[in-house]
Amino acid sequence: MSGKTAKKKAPLRFALVLAAGQGTRMKSRHAKVLHLLCGKPIIAHVLETLSQLNLKKIFVVVGHEADAVKQVLSDYDVEFVHQERRLGTGHAVITASPYLKNLSGSLLVLYGDAPLITRETLERLLTTREQEDADQALLTTEYENPCGYGRILRGGEGEIIDVIEEKEADTLQRTIREVNPGFYCFKLPSLLAALPELTRAKVSGEYYLTDLPRILRRQGGSVLTVSTDAPDETCGINTREELAAAESRLRAQIARRWMLDGVTIVDPSTVYIDASAVIGADTVIYPGVLIEGKTRIGSNCIIRSYSHLKNAVLEDEVLIDHGSVVRESTIGRTTTVGPFAHVRQNSVIGPNVRIGNFVEAKKTAMGRGSKAAHLTYLGDAEVGQDVNIGAGTITCNYDGVSKNKTIIEDSVFVGSNTQIIAPVTIHEGAYVAAGSTVTEDVPPHSLAIARSRQVNKEGWAKEKRLPATKREKKKTGGKASTKQSTTV
Ligand code: UD1
Ligand code: CA
Repeated sequence: MSGKTAKKKAPLRFALVLAAGQGTRMKSRHAKVLHLLCGKPIIAHVLETLSQLNLKKIFVVVGHEADAVKQVLSDYDVEFVHQERRLGTGHAVITASPYLKNLSGSLLVLYGDAPLITRETLERLLTTREQEDADQALLTTEYENPCGYGRILRGGEGEIIDVIEEKEADTLQRTIREVNPGFYCFKLPSLLAALPELTRAKVSGEYYLTDLPRILRRQGGSVLTVSTDAPDETCGINTREELAAAESRLRAQIARRWMLDGVTIVDPSTVYIDASAVIGADTVIYPGVLIEGKTRIGSNCIIRSYSHLKNAVLEDEVLIDHGSVVRESTIGRTTTVGPFAHVRQNSVIGPNVRIGNFVEAKKTAMGRGSKAAHLTYLGDAEVGQDVNIGAGTITCNYDGVSKNKTIIEDSVFVGSNTQIIAPVTIHEGAYVAAGSTVTEDVPPHSLAIARSRQVNKEGWAKEKRLPATKREKKKTGGKASTKQSTTV
């Protein structure tokens, strides 16, 4: 082989995502593409997939709630195109055409409401068009129930002739099950030449992007179809019902992915894992668990049923026992939480800690080896290492105006049923007697008893139980009273 062989240049590739519509069928005040799917806005899923494709540039057409859509996409490298009047998908591309006019190569056009498409399928669409140098390639798939989708019309030799929208289709055309899921790849100059030919549709009055195959063919161009038998990845979301259907598909995919990576999920159909969560190998997840947001779970953890983790970070070998909630907080290695515990709002729980049943920790730090095993509220507290917090301890952090801090230093023992009135510090190695109400700092290695002394009144109870007449007799030295006693 000659060393002079020119390297094949990577094809120029761009993408255009249409996301200007309101999504009337969602019956929502918010733009459809902003609704959450497995914890992430629908359109963010599309952008996530596109960002794996090595595209030169991604354009996004925005209109309805444009600012909110732009905000959600602020982490992605995209250029926004404003479509003021929404006159249909064809009009959205016409609006973007000034941005496209000096470009060449391939343009992927897809909708912001079809989030499950895979990188592989888009790659196939791009390469098919490029290899054949076609003017357009579009994806097709078959649905048992094609309702709502544009239908693919083919000629005698199987060639695509047109895409007919459901609103415009006659009864016979509506029986066609091969549909247009809305993923296209255009040769850029051919697209720009065809766009001026778009006209308003008869029934809806919209400019349909789906008229382009017919127009391109009329102009002598070539249009190819790429079929996929994975309708799971092509579904679009127009209604809340379709949102739920897409959610359950994606949820199953996410669970499958983590199982392939070594996570045990006892009953995947009942576990909800957001797209942005991360789970380590050999972790076991029991039925009914919710894992939301950017939660990161280490390896060898156990998450028991009906627990809810949101933006939580769990190091390795953590046990989250039945019915516990951890939000925006970190749990250290080998620590156990629950059953029925609540750790929230930037709490940082260290390694080998025990947070037991009916314990709530808010904005609280707990050092290595400390324990709060039962029935406790720790709010705005800094707890050191090897501290024992007895059952029923409450940090009284709120004085009705502001939140105050409780500091409990290393190796402190707090007896049961103690109230700690913040701001206050219990210094290293101190003991607090059970039942105390601590209002002042406790010096190191000392004992604080903050409760009234016990008084024992001997015989008091026995006497109280005597019938009233006998008590009276005892009082009067044996003579019967003239008063009638009434007992109830
Ligand atoms: C579209 C296709 C249909 C296909 C289906 C697949 C057309 C005419 N029809 O129908 O063949 O089967 O998708 O899901 O394209 N949008 C804009 N500006 C507009 C109108 C729409 O940006 O003026 C955006 C929307 O925000 C949405 C996308 O384009 O994300 C698709 O619009 P939608 O109204 O949902 O089209 P469908 O009726 O689903
Ligand atoms: Ca749609």
